[in-house]
Amino acid sequence: MAVVLSVSGSPSSRSRSTGLLRHVDAMLSARGHTVLALDVRELPAEALFGTDPGHPELARAAGLFELADAVVIATPVYKAAYSGLLKCLLDHLPQHALAGKTVLPLATGGSTAHVLAIDYALRPVLSSMGAFHIVQGWFVLDRCITLDERAGVTVDGAADAGLREVVDRFCTALGGRLLSAAPADAR
Ligand SMILES: Cc1cc2nc3c(=O)[nH]c(=O)nc-3n(C[C@H](O)[C@H](O)[C@H](O)COP(=O)(O)O)c2cc1C
Repeated sequence: MAVVLSVSGSPSSRSRSTGLLRHVDAMLSARGHTVLALDVRELPAEALFGTDPGHPELARAAGLFELADAVVIATPVYKAAYSGLLKCLLDHLPQHALAGKTVLPLATGGSTAHVLAIDYALRPVLSSMGAFHIVQGWFVLDRCITLDERAGVTVDGAADAGLREVVDRFCTALGGRLLSAAPADAR
């Protein structure tokens, strides 16, 4: 089973992207993976916007990336791309912070006009950071995600079905990766 780092790049306190991520976290936990959460908005502003690369909170975030076998990254689409908050974190991480990791990118947006933002904006950045395998991502319209104090997060039918498929593929990729990383006598 894998250690999966679940990263939210939304600045919003009541975030649909983070809600979507928690929904995916539950699917991954149910399959026996260990999920660690990193909400970028909870990092101190002086760490994200400062010039001290040795800030302890940045070191802690980098340590989580190092520890993880795989990473799920969720971002709102802002101005046809991913959030600036997410970029702030990525810019502070080591160049190859994703080396050897399997990555699942997720995005939420207000319009299908930017459904490809994952592929043209986020994917190249993840590649440049050395990701081993970036599986097919998934975009969900904000109005398809309901956040409820009691019921938790609900994702509308077709969007949820597609999400489950990409999570399945992510898990398959994880299984293959863990198998190929294991010594032959442990298989
Ligand atoms: C500053 C800003 C810019 C946005 N730009 C876009 C955009 O270019 N395309 C789009 O589809 N949605 C855009 N949206 C809508 C958000 O992507 C959408 O509501 C998203 O689900 C918000 O996620 P969150 O609740 O996690 O913050 C924008 C929203 C904001 C606040």
